[in-house]
Amino acid sequence: MIPELSNPSVCMRDPQRVQEILQSMVKAGSNTVQVISDFDMTLTRFAYNGKRCPTCHNILDNSNLISNDCKIELKELLTYYPIEIDSSRSIEEKLPLMVEWWTKAHELLVQQKIRKDLLAMVVQESDAMLREGYKLLFDHLYEHSIPLLIFSAGIGDILEEVIRQAGVFHPNVKVFSNYMDFDESGELRAFKGELIHIYNKREGALLNTGHFQELRTRPNVLLLGDSLGDLTMADGVHDMENILKIGFLNDKVEERKQSYLDSYDIVLLKDETLEVPNAIMLYLTGNN
Ligand code: C5P
Ligand code: MG
Repeated sequence: MIPELSNPSVCMRDPQRVQEILQSMVKAGSNTVQVISDFDMTLTRFAYNGKRCPTCHNILDNSNLISNDCKIELKELLTYYPIEIDSSRSIEEKLPLMVEWWTKAHELLVQQKIRKDLLAMVVQESDAMLREGYKLLFDHLYEHSIPLLIFSAGIGDILEEVIRQAGVFHPNVKVFSNYMDFDESGELRAFKGELIHIYNKREGALLNTGHFQELRTRPNVLLLGDSLGDLTMADGVHDMENILKIGFLNDKVEERKQSYLDSYDIVLLKDETLEVPNAIMLYLTGNN
């Protein structure tokens, strides 16, 4: 049906079920579809030429807006990443540690009095990279008036700048993320609203009922993520009919493969491209 589903990076627990979901979504029509995607390591690349690509947080951490002393403290927080991807610990066990990670990082960033007017330059100078095929994904969704919700535990101001500079921040894109709060002189003084971390996207979704209410005529969801925490991003969708979950498995592939296969319909192993999501999107829109 979709040749890209035979790519070597693709793994599916139940290919028959994937076909059924896709057929049901095609039958309902692309005007009933919405896309919900994570940002870091899902829309952006995990690695390029063997080198890790930055998350929204890393873009700031590595920038010249941060003092050398603070950089050292932020580097120390990198010890939380192995916990994030540790498949031997339960979500319950990891959750408080993830809250600790985000909280400490945001406190450090606030101390740096980061200036709003310098964010565009920081993103420009960073190694941030959207996955290959991003332009087709964003442009095609826009051309077909399919809403794209980017739901990120990263930093909203940074991710918006990444997609703006890439020329794909179209009007059909909506972002739920952690936004910076600047004072009247344009210096960072806090983060706005409830913290979104890797394991509370469900709560974040339920806080934004208005968005999902507006999209109630679109009960068919294409979900893209790279973490098991991303699976709850669609929990606010009204009267869901079908959901197809595509998961990028970037790191610790062998250890985590089974848990990803158990929860994502399609798992993409070390695949740095959007080839498979794009093929599915084209299929859903009748390839035009
Ligand atoms: O956009 P997404 O929801 O994927 O953003 C979360 C990612 O940000 C996590 O996967 C985590 O590895 C990363 N992160 C980071 N530095 C922090 C907190 C989170 O790089 N201080
Ligand atoms: Mg992610």
